[in-house]
Amino acid sequence: MLVKKISELRKILSQARREGKTIGFVPTMGALHEGHFSLIRAARQETDFLVTSIFVNPTQFAPSEDFAQYPRDLEGDLKKAEEIGVDLVFAPSAEEMYTEGFATYVWQERLTERMCGLSRPGFFRGVATVVTKLFNIVGPCVAYFGQKDYQQSVVVRRMVRDLNMEVEIRVLPTVRQSDGLAMSSRNKHLSESERQEALCLYQALKEAEALVAAGERKSEKIIEKMREIVAGAPSARIDYMVVVDPENLEDIETIEGEVLVALAVWIGKTRLIDNMLISPEKSEA
Ligand code: PAJ
Repeated sequence: MLVKKISELRKILSQARREGKTIGFVPTMGALHEGHFSLIRAARQETDFLVTSIFVNPTQFAPSEDFAQYPRDLEGDLKKAEEIGVDLVFAPSAEEMYTEGFATYVWQERLTERMCGLSRPGFFRGVATVVTKLFNIVGPCVAYFGQKDYQQSVVVRRMVRDLNMEVEIRVLPTVRQSDGLAMSSRNKHLSESERQEALCLYQALKEAEALVAAGERKSEKIIEKMREIVAGAPSARIDYMVVVDPENLEDIETIEGEVLVALAVWIGKTRLIDNMLISPEKSEA
């Protein structure tokens, strides 16, 4: 079922709630792929009434970014969503979500001031604002996010805690293509040769994993090797590469426990992100 109006959605969901159903929610920007489907399938199993939103949120794109070019395929998405058993697809217009005179935003400190937040100023303000609005509209019991956008999941978890939102956040593993490239709606923008080069993100992460397994504990050394791998791809340009604490996203110099290794790389005109949680072997500690 496709719903475009907030008032209609509220009616349907209050009925579902009256029937005692738990509401699962998977927010997306559409151009659905296996990464989204893994969240939708989990939500289908774990909750009674499943809502997926498809909304390319203008407030999380800077004027210079790819809002206009972001892939859109509502018809294809609706078909796939229905096949997997989504009960309701919420696909509002920008005007429905941001009415004339809109002036209220959700702004989070610290966690948003690095990594993607540094290279995309305003991005997390847009994400936190739209996720808050969507939570207020849908009122989910459980909402599902992907580890692919690790920083986003940390920001959302913190926001839910800080603002006492009554929703459980579930974060599920990154879904990859068979050669390791993380699924992303933006992969559609890659030419054939760029698609090959895009593998350098995953290769760099695998190298980091191998180095840690071999006993390397200095983040600097790991990043140096990762840089070498990405430098091997002619159209690649590094935005950032970090080894950070998975909870507070602060830099780690010497690896002692689990770390998040994350990177953002431009492949031609397309910016891709990826990450991996890596733990040093306990026996080597
Ligand atoms: P979008 O990029 O469409 O992603 C929607 C959800 O799917 C996010 O939680 C994202 O982490 C997850 N996802 C994307 N690719 C994935 C993959 N390869 N494996 C696992 N999960 C994956 O993220 C957004 O939209 C927006 O910022 C949104 C939260 C909807 C707010 O506008």
